[in-house]
Amino acid sequence: MTNDVLRQAPLFSALDDEAASALRSSMGENRLRRGEVLFHEGDPGDKLYIVTDGKVKLGRTSSDGRENLLAILGPGQMFGELSLFDPGPRSATVTAVTETTFLSLSHDDLLRWLEGRPGVSLGLLAQLAGRLRKTNEVVADLVFSDVPGRVAKALLDLADRFGRTADDGVHVHHDLTQEELAQLVGASRETVNKALADFASRGWLRLEPRSVVIHDVERMRRRAR
Ligand code: CMP
Repeated sequence: MTNDVLRQAPLFSALDDEAASALRSSMGENRLRRGEVLFHEGDPGDKLYIVTDGKVKLGRTSSDGRENLLAILGPGQMFGELSLFDPGPRSATVTAVTETTFLSLSHDDLLRWLEGRPGVSLGLLAQLAGRLRKTNEVVADLVFSDVPGRVAKALLDLADRFGRTADDGVHVHHDLTQEELAQLVGASRETVNKALADFASRGWLRLEPRSVVIHDVERMRRRAR
C-alpha cells in the first residue's frame, strides 16, 4: 500500500506527513478473501475502515431475500462511519469482491483524533456530502433512466475508479459477476445481460469475465445521460 492511496482518504488528505504517520500507526489492519464478509447489515459497529487494496461491495437484503448493492469501494475509500455519526446498527453488509486489505480505526479513536482538527472533520463532511449527492443521482436514475442507461453509467463510474487506458479502450476489471452488476443497477440479470449484449453488438464495448473493455467512452456517456 502506498501513501498515495491513504492520501485519497478524507481522514488523511488534510494531514501533514507527521500527523499521517501518527494516525497510520494507531490503525489496525485486516485482510479478507473474495466472498468473505467484514460485517453484516444490522450488526453493532465500533470501527471505520479504509480500503488499502482490492474491492468491497456494500449491500442490503430485502425482507424477501433480494439483494441490492449500494456501492463498490476500492483503494482510498472509507466506510463504517455512519454508525458513529448517526448512532445505530451497520447500514449495509460489506463483502470482499476480491482479496482486500483494510486499515481500521475505532470510533472512539476517531472522535479523539477529530478533536482540534477541523480540517479532518471537514474532509469527512465532504465525503458524506459527496455520497448524498451520488445517492440522489442514483435515486433519480432509478426513476428517470432505463436499465441500459443505468448500466452505462455504472460501467463508466467503475471505469473512473478501476479503469486502465490501453490502445483498444479502457480496461475495467470490475471483478463483479453479472448478478452483482444487476444488483448494482437495481435490475434483473436478464435485462442487464441484454443491455450489455446490445452495447457489445454496437461495438461500444467488449465483454470479458468480470471485466469489460470500453471501446467508445463517448457513446457510453451519451447513453448514460
Ligand atoms: P455503517 O452503517 O457503519 O456500515 C456500513 C457502511 O457503508 C456505512 O457505515 C457507510 O460508511 C457505508 N455506506 C452506506 N451507504 C452508502 C452509500 N450509499 N454509498 C457509499 N457508502 C455507503
